[in-house]
Amino acid sequence: MTNLQDQFQRPLRDLRISVTDRCNFRCQYCMPAEIFGPDFAFLPSEKILSFEEIERLVKIFVSLGVKKIRITGGEPLLRRDLPTLIERINRIDGVEDIALTTNGTLLKKYAHDLAKAGLSRVSVSLDSLNEERFFEMNGHRGKVKTVLEGIEKAAEAGLQVKINMVVQKGKNEQDIVTMAQFFKEKQHILRFIEYMDVGNSNGWKMDDVVSKKEILEQVQQISPLKPVEPNYKGEVATRFQYQDNQGEIGVISSVTDSFCSSCSRARISAEGKLYTCLFATDGTDLRELLRNGEDDASIIQCISNVWENRTDRYSDERNEQTMEKRKKSKIEMSHIGG
Ligand code: GTP
Ligand code: 5AD
Ligand code: SF4
Ligand code: SF4
Repeated sequence: MTNLQDQFQRPLRDLRISVTDRCNFRCQYCMPAEIFGPDFAFLPSEKILSFEEIERLVKIFVSLGVKKIRITGGEPLLRRDLPTLIERINRIDGVEDIALTTNGTLLKKYAHDLAKAGLSRVSVSLDSLNEERFFEMNGHRGKVKTVLEGIEKAAEAGLQVKINMVVQKGKNEQDIVTMAQFFKEKQHILRFIEYMDVGNSNGWKMDDVVSKKEILEQVQQISPLKPVEPNYKGEVATRFQYQDNQGEIGVISSVTDSFCSSCSRARISAEGKLYTCLFATDGTDLRELLRNGEDDASIIQCISNVWENRTDRYSDERNEQTMEKRKKSKIEMSHIGG
């Protein structure tokens, strides 16, 4: 196995694979309905990587040091037969962990099959327990009740469950304590995510961000928190336990306390482009190599070159200048899956 390192000595360990650019939600901060409307041109199926192509890429990435695979979208459960893909990835030697990031609407239907296929963990997005505010934030598409049922089914099926809540000023900051209390009781890990300037569509402003510090102050109203060591080097969330030892939360603070120095994540978009940062402007077309009949060695060479030349640290260097420069050209979250 090759152990690749980028320009800042960061290894390649995690691969996030988007399996579709479509979603049944229209979260304002990700796929606003005004932009992703009925006429929006999503990728035609022939431009999306097939399961065979994804499987081949996973094998190649594992030979370069990847151990963790995360399936994302859009909404990955909209991709037909997703459990079959999980099964194929699970059979690959060297894959230690397979996780899925989902909005939870279809989990009730698929949780059992996903667990059976070898999925270990799910991150379920849920921004509020208040039906009205949730409906507003997801573009009038989904109900809290459906997502909660999905979460319960996932837990019953034996999947490890984490909940992701994007916190946006003026939208759902009043839900921080209610969400924390609810998931403390349910014994599910809730991660609060600082609202980020991903893509070009969400009209992000620093003023809309609720900081890690503000989030922690609010959660401590329930019970004091103590920091906990990361589960693995480069974990995105900072972990905290309630001092009564009854439950855990996480905060993902890409804006006010960034974590680029330990970033070991590569991303593949639904159409097969390789990105080395969530905020990237350009990707490397792997689909073309796959479909042109290139052998593994030349695909390995291409990926190695990209990783070894990597200098991304967008969140660390986020400032007016970089934002201005990247305006209108960043990859959309729904293509790259977060
Ligand atoms: P585990 O630690 O494996 O449980 O998963 P995760 O937290 O890395 O994955 P998940 O898909 O649940 O992501 C949670 C949030 O973290 C999402 O909002 C992602 O966009 C964000 N995130 C994940 N990786 C990165 C990253 O490399 N950079 C930034 N800025 N945000 C990230
Ligand atoms: N800022 C922070 N998190 C976001 N997500 C989507 N868009 C944003 C954004 N602009 C989250 C989703 C999901 C995860 C993949 O990324 O809610 O939990
Ligand atoms: Fe869909 Fe997730 Fe984006 Fe919301 S955040 S629109 S659920 S992909
Ligand atoms: Fe990694 Fe880019 Fe996120 Fe920094 S901003 S942690 S380099 S994906």
